Amino acid sequence: MGKVEEFSNYTPILKWAGGKRQLMPELLKSVPEHFNTYFEPFVGGAALLFSLYSQRRLRKAIISDVNEDLYKLYSVIKKDPHGLAREMERMAFQNNSEDYYRARDRFNSTSDIMEKSALLIYLNRHCFNGLYRVNSRNQFNVPFGRYSNPEIPSESVIMDLSVVFKSCTILNSDFEETVMDATEGDFVYFDPPYIPLSRTASFTDYTSKGFSMKDQERLLKTFQKLNDKGVMVMESNSDTPIIKEMYSQFFMRTVSARRSINSKGMKRKGGTEVIITNYEVPDKSNI
Ligand SMILES: C[S@@+](CC[C@H](N)C(=O)[O-])C[C@H]1O[C@@H](n2cnc3c(N)ncnc32)[C@H](O)[C@@H]1O
Repeated sequence: MGKVEEFSNYTPILKWAGGKRQLMPELLKSVPEHFNTYFEPFVGGAALLFSLYSQRRLRKAIISDVNEDLYKLYSVIKKDPHGLAREMERMAFQNNSEDYYRARDRFNSTSDIMEKSALLIYLNRHCFNGLYRVNSRNQFNVPFGRYSNPEIPSESVIMDLSVVFKSCTILNSDFEETVMDATEGDFVYFDPPYIPLSRTASFTDYTSKGFSMKDQERLLKTFQKLNDKGVMVMESNSDTPIIKEMYSQFFMRTVSARRSINSKGMKRKGGTEVIITNYEVPDKSNI
C-alpha cells in the first residue's frame, strides 16, 4: 500500500496530556499494514484512532480509558451528539474567570451525564493548558487558562466524531481487561502515562489513582502475553534506560517529540520518546 488518502480530517475534541498529534507521522509509520480489530486501551484524546479512521484503516475498534468523565463524554458523543450540542448552547458560560469557576463548581456537583459532558468540553477549552487534573476527592481543580479566543467545537465537528465513535466499542476499564480478548491478527496500541524522567518530572495524574511502577510492570507482562498470542502490539513510552531494559526483547525506535504538557512548571519542552513494537517496522522514509 502506498500513501493512504485521507477522506476527512478527524481530530481530537479534547486537548489531552500526552496527546499524540506531533508524533503522528512517526506513529503512522509504525502501524502494521493490515490488522483486524484495533484496540486503544489508554485512549485519552484518541489522536491515533482519529488518524486511522481518517485513512479508512479501521474496521472495528475497541477503545477505553479509566477516566470516567472522558468515557461518559465519548459515550454521549456516540449516542446523542445533537443533545450534546444543544446542551453546550444552553449552558452559555463565557470566557471569563467568574464564569469558568461557576462552570467548574457545577461540573464537580452535577450527576447529569449530558451536562457534565458539555461542561468537560467547556473546561477543557478554557482551563490552564487544557489539563485534566483532579484532587484526591476526585474534584476537577485546574485553574482558569486566560486564552484570548478559545475554539469551541461546532455541532458538525461533534456529529463527525459521533460517526467515528459509532464504529467503536467504548469501555471504562483498566488496560489489562480491555485487551483480554484480543486475538491473532488484531492490533493494540498502548499509550500509557509515561515512566517519569525523574521523580517529579512527568504528569501522570489523569485520575486520582495515578499510574505506578507496578502498573508499568503489569503493562510489560500484558505486552508479552499479547505477543505470545500473535497480536501486533505497539507502545509509546519515555526514552529512559529502564524502558529500554524492560522492552529489550522487542523492536524499538527513538523519535523526537515535543511534549505538550510537562508538569515541571508546565513548560513546553522538546525531548525523545520510544516507539516499541513486537514486529519489525519497514523503513518507510521514501514513502
Ligand atoms: C498518555 S495518555 C493517552 C494520550 C492519547 N494517546 C492521546 O492521543 O491523547 C494516557 C491515558 O491513560 C489513561 N489511564 C491511566 N491509567 C490507566 C489504566 N490503568 N487503564 C486504562 N487507562 C488508563 C489516562 O486517563 C490517560 O487518558
